[in-house]
Amino acid sequence: MAPMRIAVTGASGLIGSALTASLTADGHEVVTLVRRPPRNRGEARWDPRAGTVDAQALAGCEAVVHLAGAPVAARRWSARRKKVLLDSRVDGTATIARAMAALDPKPRVLVAGSAIGYYGDTGDRFVDEDSPAGTGFLADLVQAWEAAADPARAAGIRTVHARTGLVVSPQGGAWGALFPFFRAGLGGRLGSGRQYWSFISLEDEVAALRFAVDHEELSGPVNLTAPEPRTNSEVTEAMGRVLHRPTALPVPSFALRAVLGEFAGDVTGSQRVRPQRLLDAGFSFAHPDIDDAIKAALPPPNRV
Ligand SMILES: NC(=O)c1ccc[n+]([C@@H]2O[C@H](COP(=O)([O-])OP(=O)(O)OC[C@H]3O[C@@H](n4cnc5c(N)ncnc54)[C@H](OP(=O)(O)O)[C@@H]3O)[C@@H](O)[C@H]2O)c1
Repeated sequence: MAPMRIAVTGASGLIGSALTASLTADGHEVVTLVRRPPRNRGEARWDPRAGTVDAQALAGCEAVVHLAGAPVAARRWSARRKKVLLDSRVDGTATIARAMAALDPKPRVLVAGSAIGYYGDTGDRFVDEDSPAGTGFLADLVQAWEAAADPARAAGIRTVHARTGLVVSPQGGAWGALFPFFRAGLGGRLGSGRQYWSFISLEDEVAALRFAVDHEELSGPVNLTAPEPRTNSEVTEAMGRVLHRPTALPVPSFALRAVLGEFAGDVTGSQRVRPQRLLDAGFSFAHPDIDDAIKAALPPPNRV
């Protein structure tokens, strides 16, 4: 692709920092939208709570990748925390979508962060982008989050909802919480271990976001998950194999619930998601296999 100007929100986060590094390495001009005063010419201010964006910074951008949102896995979900999780996503997305719609000329595409939480607990059943929304807090949150992009859609801007699975990384997300336990030899299957985990390597996540920017045929929901989800027991065995640690100690559901609160449902719930739209569009996964995805998340000496 020819070099382009592209704005990224949530650029300090796990996915945003990897995406920004990848785009910059390939010669694209990245404008990072920050919630604090900008520190250099590559940064511009936005305030998702006040609904404001530095419109001048967005001008001339061909694409916006919007990844900002309060971390879902960081704390127990109190009623107050749930409101922060929801508001940070709905307000942020609406702010970006309105600002893009008001530009002339408008950016070509909005790739907006979303999550496979949309589908709720799917048990052993495969779901794809045509499947209906599930139930529960995350499913409701994702629907509101995606709907908040309506102003961009209504303005004719191609809008992609990047429904991301569990990103395999020691640096963040739900998986980030697991690595220390496994490294300490205290990892084990969570609950029954029969629940499906729809994972994706960070490298594939970044490649898929960039693929969504570049591929005009993609719009609406797009699942960002490896093609073959694995059960939590299989993931646990893979972690043990790759990290060379025992994984004999299962973590009972009640203990997870005691530590994680309602978020425990997210790691003991089952999501068997197929990335149908990416596959149909010819996206090729670098790490379709769980062992490879885990190895890719480790510093180079640990890679086999
Ligand atoms: N990692 C995963 O496994 C995973 C799975 C499914 C979906 N997702 C979604 O993908 C997006 C990016 O994920 P990530 O793992 O990169 O998240 P992350 O590491 O938590 O980064 C999110 C970024 O959002 C901004 N942010 C934090 N609190 C905020 C708030 N209250 N209001 C507005 N912005 C806030 C921060 O960037 P600034 O300080 O630079 O503004 C932060 O670095 C998120 O929306 C997440 O829910 C991630």
